[in-house]
Amino acid sequence: MLILGALLFLGTIAKAEYNSYNTKTSYFWVYDNSTTLNTNQWTTFQFGSQACNAIHVSGVFRHGARWPGDNYIMEMTPLQNKLLQHIPNIDKSPYRFLKTWKNLYPLDKEKELIPLGAQEMIAIAGRLGRRMQSFLIDKLDRLIVMSANKQRAQASAKEFYKSLIKTTTGQDRNLTTIIINNTIVRYYDKCGGVDSIKKREGFLKEYDDFRNGQFFTNATDSIVRRLGLVDTALSKDEVELIYQMCPYDRTCFSRNDWCSMLSDDEKDIMGYLKDLETYYEEAYGHPLLANNSCPLMQNIFNGMDDAIKGRAENKRYTAGIFRFGHSETLIPFFAALGMFKDSYPIRADNYKAMKNRKFNTANMVPYSANLEFVLYECANGTSAKEHYLKLFHNEIEVPIPGCGGLQCKYDDARALHADMIDNCDLESICKEPAVSAERRTLVNGVMLFLALLFSNSVKNL
Ligand SMILES: *[C@@H]1O[C@H](CO)[C@@H](O)[C@H](O)[C@H]1NC(C)=O
Ligand SMILES: *[C@@H]1O[C@H](CO)[C@@H](O)[C@H](O)[C@H]1NC(C)=O
Ligand SMILES: *[C@@H]1O[C@H](CO)[C@@H](O)[C@H](O)[C@H]1NC(C)=O
Ligand SMILES: *[C@@H]1O[C@H](CO)[C@@H](O)[C@H](O)[C@H]1NC(C)=O
Ligand SMILES: *[C@@H]1O[C@H](CO)[C@@H](O)[C@H](O)[C@H]1NC(C)=O
Ligand SMILES: *[C@@H]1O[C@H](CO)[C@@H](O)[C@H](O)[C@H]1NC(C)=O
Repeated sequence: MLILGALLFLGTIAKAEYNSYNTKTSYFWVYDNSTTLNTNQWTTFQFGSQACNAIHVSGVFRHGARWPGDNYIMEMTPLQNKLLQHIPNIDKSPYRFLKTWKNLYPLDKEKELIPLGAQEMIAIAGRLGRRMQSFLIDKLDRLIVMSANKQRAQASAKEFYKSLIKTTTGQDRNLTTIIINNTIVRYYDKCGGVDSIKKREGFLKEYDDFRNGQFFTNATDSIVRRLGLVDTALSKDEVELIYQMCPYDRTCFSRNDWCSMLSDDEKDIMGYLKDLETYYEEAYGHPLLANNSCPLMQNIFNGMDDAIKGRAENKRYTAGIFRFGHSETLIPFFAALGMFKDSYPIRADNYKAMKNRKFNTANMVPYSANLEFVLYECANGTSAKEHYLKLFHNEIEVPIPGCGGLQCKYDDARALHADMIDNCDLESICKEPAVSAERRTLVNGVMLFLALLFSNSVKNL
């Protein structure tokens, strides 16, 4: 009996749910509940003979889980109908759910925060409130909440703030002042210089090659066979739509049916394709992508500079800044910090070798992904004070790249990024490169208009 129980238990572990869906991954699916959670664990630490106390916290958050965009919502029912038409004997098919599946996605709420996304924020803020309780408790009127102008970002900020106050004080308090600053949180918007690099021929070569390669093609074929489709094939777009609907149906409605259409290997392949796109388009494809995040880098470090100065002059200073944005807010910034950088680039031809890659967007930027810098003042008896910086990603302490250990001398961390902090010139980064005279005549108003329209429709992850 005991042995049977143990076997059943092992069986459930072996069949752990597949939870890695790039930027459509819920924070709950990747946050490890066994992560240490002690009251004030981020507030103080002992460093050799020095006692270090937090003096400032600076956070960057991606919004929580959201509804799909209208483009996806409108493609779902046609796909359902196509599959229904081409699966014979649907009543005997493992995919008979297609007969009753309803497209319940509200077009008028496209991309807005869903209840699961609010829950993610509430959980994260609750843990932060505990981890920094004695720091936060008397500084709640010295916090700044900043957001992108989108509903999902602002709604995330509100849920976060409410939960943070509740955990630290037990009080019900709504967020009343929210600073909307797209320059800092959506620095990547309308940046012509970066956009023109992305439009260069061959910029997404690795992505295109993998999408046209054997892994993706074989996966498509095996999905067609598994579904039992007759007299039709699936386009690459349709395969990708199934891959998107799987996590959307899970996060929005707790429905798993679409996920059952894909094997774990196929999901790995789709996931790699998406990671390739993100790697080249938003992170390590060109150094300007990272440089573009300088307004955010500057805002974070200036806030810490001000805290150090405020302490030294015994003046009131901002104790915490929490910013709410998008996956695109975090990804180029990760690249600027040098995070999630593998020893060599991910490419179309090294899929197998990069299976355990650092650049895995499901872990990097699930919904509600977060990055917290905590600045500490350390003192050794009465000797001079020193400042140290710690970095937390998705609530796990991580080293600051280029700095060695887990705690970094503040001046060293700042020096690593001094150029971005002190010489951030978004105008020059985003300036369109000069075009030749013949080309300029081509770039007439209509083309510019179309380009703007297009670049807006593919943005806003
Ligand atoms: C952590 O706990 C939450 C809530 O109980 C659960 O939904 C989630 O699946 C757990 N996550 C992991 C990675 O175990
Ligand atoms: C906070 O806002 C919610 C909804 O917007 C409202 O129902 C609630 O009464 C507010 N709470 C406080 C303490 O103001
Ligand atoms: C946003 O932040 C930038 C950079 O700090 C600043 O120059 C700008 O005035 C701010 N905009 C708003 C609307 O607050
Ligand atoms: C794709 O399928 C072909 C034909 O079955 C096979 O020879 C090839 O090894 C497969 N390639 C990959 C990368 O799975
Ligand atoms: C990006 O910034 C770094 C350091 O700030 C600088 O050395 C480099 O030239 C910049 N690259 C581009 C393409 O602007
Ligand atoms: C701290 O104090 C110890 C002993 O008093 C001394 O050896 C050490 O150098 C001091 N460290 C710093 C950073 O001041």
